[in-house]
Amino acid sequence: MKSPATQSAGVSLFTLLGAGLFAAFPLDAGAESKQAAPMELVQPASATPWLRYSSWTATDWKDYNTLDKTASPAYVPPPKLNGPISGDPKNGEKLAFDRTRGGSCVACHIMGKTTPALPGSVGPDLSTIGIWGRSDQWLFNYVYDPRSVNPQSLMPPWGTHTLFSTLEIQDIVAFLKTLKEPSAFKDALENPATRPVPVDTRDNLDPFTNDGMAALERAGLIFSRVGANRKSCASCHSTPKSDFKTWAASMPRYEARLNKVIGVEEFITRHARSTTGDNLLMQSADNIDLSIYLRYLANGTPIKVDTQSKNSVAAIKRGNALMTRKIGQLNFACMDCHSLGANKWIRGQYLTETKGQFAHFPTYRTSRGEIWDIRKRFQWCNVAIRANELPPDAAEYGDLEIALAVINQGQKLNAPGIRH
Ligand code: HEC
Ligand code: HEC
Ligand code: HEC
Repeated sequence: MKSPATQSAGVSLFTLLGAGLFAAFPLDAGAESKQAAPMELVQPASATPWLRYSSWTATDWKDYNTLDKTASPAYVPPPKLNGPISGDPKNGEKLAFDRTRGGSCVACHIMGKTTPALPGSVGPDLSTIGIWGRSDQWLFNYVYDPRSVNPQSLMPPWGTHTLFSTLEIQDIVAFLKTLKEPSAFKDALENPATRPVPVDTRDNLDPFTNDGMAALERAGLIFSRVGANRKSCASCHSTPKSDFKTWAASMPRYEARLNKVIGVEEFITRHARSTTGDNLLMQSADNIDLSIYLRYLANGTPIKVDTQSKNSVAAIKRGNALMTRKIGQLNFACMDCHSLGANKWIRGQYLTETKGQFAHFPTYRTSRGEIWDIRKRFQWCNVAIRANELPPDAAEYGDLEIALAVINQGQKLNAPGIRH
C-alpha cells in the first residue's frame, strides 16, 4: 500500500534523479505497477504425455480434426445411386435408433410411431418425411453427407466420415421412406416440444446441497500447507480474503511470459512451482480445490477480462473462430450445439447457450460425482463428438476460455457450481 510518506519521497526523488532513473528503480513498485506474480515458465502445466481419463473412452480419432490440427477427410460429393433404393427398412430402423452409432438419428429427430424414448429436437421431426416428395438420391445424399444439399448443415456426414456404410445408408433411406404418419406421444415428457425445460433451483453455495463446497475446507488446508520450499501460500498471502476479493474475475488473461492465455488453474500450477515448490498439476485434486477457493473469494464480482490489449483481442478472436471449427468424426463445432442447437434437446439433454456457461466453474457434476474445471468440460465436449481432446494447458483451450469469458462478461462469479 502507498503511504503518504513514500509518496512524497517518490515525488522528491523523481525531481532529483529524473524520470528515466525513477522508472528503472521504482521505489514504490506496489503502487506504481504491481510486481508480476512469480511463475515457472518452462514445464507443461498438466501431466505429460497427456493421457485421457481412464473412465473415458480410449478411442483415438486421429483421422479427424481437433482444435489444433486438420485431419478430417475432405468433402467429396456422395456416390450416385444406380436406380431406386432397394434397402431393408427394418435394418434401417434398427440403425437409425442405435445409440452406439454416432448417438443415433433420434438424438436429434423424431422418427414416427416407433421412435424410442426421449427423442431430441435439434433437427426437424421426420415422422412424415416419406410424403415430402424427396427423391431417393436426395435422401441418400442428405444422410451420406448433408453438405451436398446444405453446406451450412450441422448434421454429421454419416457416409463421408464412415459412421455408416453406403449399404447401411440405403437401408436407412428405405426406412425414411416408410415414415408417413405423425408420431404420437404417450405423455408430454416424451415430446421434446412439450418436455419441461430443466430449471435448477438448487443452492450451489449450500454445502448440504453441493458436494463441491467441501473443496473450500480442503483448500484452506492446502493454502497453509508448507511445500518443498518451506513456504505455504499463506506465508506470502496472509490476507487472501481481501487480497483476492476480485482477482479471479479478471481471469483468464493473456500472459506475455508464456505467450498464451492462462486461467486460474494454470496460474496455480506455475505460481506454486516457483513459490511453495509444490507441483500442483492442472486437474489434480489440489489444483481444483485451490481454484474453487480463489474463485469463491471473488464470488459476486462481475467477470471482467481484458478486452483491450492487443494480445488479448487477438486471443479472443482466435477463440471465437475455434468455436465455429468443425471437429471430430461427428464434425461438430461448439456453436452447432451451443448456439444453433441451443435451447433444444439432444436426446435427453437440454443444450445451453454459451452465455451462462462460465461463472459457475469449477462445477460439481452430480451425474459423475466429480468436480470439473472449465478445461475438463472442454475436453469432454471434444471426446463426446469423437474428437481427440487436447491437454488442459493447451493454448487453444486458453483462447476458447477467454472467448467464453467475454461472452459472459459482467456475469457474477458464482463458484463452485452444481450441474447434472
Ligand atoms: C446432431 C443432430 C442430428 C443428428 C444426430 C441427425 N440429424 Fe438429421 N438433421 C439435423 C438437422 C439440424 C437438420 C436440418 C438442418 C441441417 O441440416 O442442419 C437435419 C436434416 C435431416 C434430413 C433432411 C430433412 C428434409 O428436409 O427432408 C434428413 C433426411 C435427416 N436429417 C436424416 C437423418 C438421419 C437418417 C440421421 C441418423 C443417421 C440423422 N438425420 C441424424 C440434425 C441431426
Ligand atoms: C514466496 C511468496 C509467495 C508464495 C509462497 C505464494 N505467492 Fe502468490 N504471489 C506472490 C507474489 C510476489 C505475487 C505478486 C504480487 C501480488 O499480487 O501480491 C503473488 C500473487 C498471487 C496472486 C495474484 C496473481 C496476480 O496475477 O496478480 C494469487 C491469486 C496468488 N498469488 C495465489 C497464491 C497461491 C494459491 C499460493 C500457494 C500455492 C501462493 N500464491 C504462494 C508471492 C507468493
Ligand atoms: C454435440 C453437441 C455439443 C458440442 C458440439 C459441444 N458441446 Fe458443450 N455441451 C454439450 C452438452 C450436451 C452439454 C451439457 C448440457 C449443457 O449444459 O448444454 C454441454 C455443456 C458444455 C459446457 C458447460 C455448460 C454449463 O453451464 O455447465 C460448456 C462450457 C461447453 N459445453 C463448452 C463447449 C465448447 C467450448 C465446445 C466446443 C469445443 C462444445 N461445448 C461443444 C454438447 C455439446
